[in-house]
Amino acid sequence: MRIDILSILPDFFNIAFEQSILKRAQKKGIVEIHIHDIRKYSTNKQKSVDDYQYGGGAGMVMCIQPIDDLISKLKSERNYDEIIYLTPDGEQLNQGICNKLSTLKNIILLCGHYKGIDQRIRDHFISKEISIGDYVLTGGELGAIVLSDAIIRLIPGVISDETSALTDSFQDQLLSPPIYTRPSEYKGWKVPEILLSGDDKKIEKWRQEQAEIRTKTRRPDILKDK
Ligand code: ADE
Repeated sequence: MRIDILSILPDFFNIAFEQSILKRAQKKGIVEIHIHDIRKYSTNKQKSVDDYQYGGGAGMVMCIQPIDDLISKLKSERNYDEIIYLTPDGEQLNQGICNKLSTLKNIILLCGHYKGIDQRIRDHFISKEISIGDYVLTGGELGAIVLSDAIIRLIPGVISDETSALTDSFQDQLLSPPIYTRPSEYKGWKVPEILLSGDDKKIEKWRQEQAEIRTKTRRPDILKDK
């Protein structure tokens, strides 16, 4: 998979994609991440990327020209399955969206700033708009990192334990059950007896029950959709 990220803050991504699993996925050649500086594509002398909004009002708007030039260049080089704009008024991200996106070959993630981008970019280029939650961030960069991370870990070969991504919370619309590791007792705090029993069937049943209890008490809203 190839992910092209368009931003006015290209340095923002340095640490995020150079750690552990995401770094390994790139080294293995499973995913390519390309960060593009929108400002470099501005044709005006000051290399500005934003301007006042028509009709008045506070806040600057990101201009069409540099974004158009950058997206058009990328589109002339390869086909993109989705061109995604990160924005608080987009569709709220969930595991189902991540599953679908993880099967794609080439995607563009466009990060907005200030008040947002000129609507005409959204109308003419964007195929999907995604929000990572009902709150407003300073820009789309954190959203692009969250989305990339959630997608990349689902691509086969990225996580060494192949089954682990499938047993995540949300994957079957249930939260994960409690998990434990050694020691079996610490300061008198004990691991549930059943997990030490070696009886796989009983353990599976217990995990399923615990996942249901957790989901009912913490996220009844996702159970309702089942
Ligand atoms: N940009 C600003 N806020 C955002 C949000 N909540 N999700 C995605 N992109 C954003």
